[in-house]
Amino acid sequence: MRMKSKALAGRGRLELDTPCLALDLDLLDANLRNMQARVRAGNKILRPHAKTHKCSKLARRQIEAGAPGLCAAKVSEAEALVRAGLRNILVTGPVVTSEKIRRLAGCREADPKLAVVLDDFENARALNAAMAGSGQKLDVLVDVDVGLGRTGVPPERAGELARKVMEQPNLRFRGIQAYAGHVQHIRDHALRRAESLACMAPAAEAVRALRAAGAECEVLSGAGTGTFDCDLEIPELTELQAGSYAVMDAEYMAIGSASNPDRFDEFKPALTLFTTVVSANQAGFVTLDAGLKAVYQHGGRPYPVSGRDSGSTYDWFGDEYGRLTFAAGARQPRVGDVVELVVSHCDPTINLHDEFMVTRNGRVVDAWPIDLRGCCR
Ligand SMILES: Cc1ncc(COP(=O)(O)O)c(C=O)c1O
Repeated sequence: MRMKSKALAGRGRLELDTPCLALDLDLLDANLRNMQARVRAGNKILRPHAKTHKCSKLARRQIEAGAPGLCAAKVSEAEALVRAGLRNILVTGPVVTSEKIRRLAGCREADPKLAVVLDDFENARALNAAMAGSGQKLDVLVDVDVGLGRTGVPPERAGELARKVMEQPNLRFRGIQAYAGHVQHIRDHALRRAESLACMAPAAEAVRALRAAGAECEVLSGAGTGTFDCDLEIPELTELQAGSYAVMDAEYMAIGSASNPDRFDEFKPALTLFTTVVSANQAGFVTLDAGLKAVYQHGGRPYPVSGRDSGSTYDWFGDEYGRLTFAAGARQPRVGDVVELVVSHCDPTINLHDEFMVTRNGRVVDAWPIDLRGCCR
């Protein structure tokens, strides 16, 4: 636990008021640089997933760090990125309803490199029809299911669907997406690597088969933070869609890395939640002002940033409150003390907040709106 209320007292309107999300700019930039360098050294492209941070300012920083484009989970996220002036966006989930297809076509007008995934022939026809008369083609990746079972065609049907996409005059087949979400948090690194390489192999095979048949299959897009280093070994993979690496969370910190079986130390937790002790009348624990509405109850358990009272454990204590149980012998926090937590699961936690307080050397230096917040359509 770090008591930072005074250190973080900002200037003007940028005052720390808890519960709030803080982004340590130096840690964030180190994460962006690190992933960018690793992906570049593997001769791949990094297409960071904006679903994680939902912040166009952070997305722009990823582009400035060297990423040529971004991923968005939903059309509404893509719209917000395009509105912020960002381009080359891949929508990583199928867009199937007429209103959203219309909005997707609107994004395509502004972003010539906009692409979308699909896993269904009727959806391909609907996308093709929506682009008719626009004089533009929409880039498409065929989504291949490599074991998650959420979206995607089985790898053996990828070629057939790709050929049908190629027959649509207003679509341009670009390649394949294969996202192995089910292996990202396997704790043991060697097992995670083996599982990821095994489940991605049929997608790589589908790419090879399409290319052997003369198809222009330029892209194989996939991978997350958990398998980024493993998937760099796949020759057919052209781009990585990692998202969490930028800010990290307790769920990711708890898995092993290639060099550390106990901790995923490739990237640092740049994102923390500041919360205040609001009541300290009980023996053994204090009550914090951050509960279910401030930190999402999924993934790992939030933990205090290391410091003199580490060993304390956080638990949810209702909608508005959390409980911090302190270790035996630890200094008992007082009312008004500020506790800094690494969050459980970054994506849905960020979606609960309006802005990041951006910090450097313990001072608030900026506030970045979480402008994609609530974009779930
Ligand atoms: C399709 C897709 N790609 C990439 C990612 C990024 O994964 P991570 O946050 O583990 O890096 C996700 C996350 O859920 C995803 O759904």
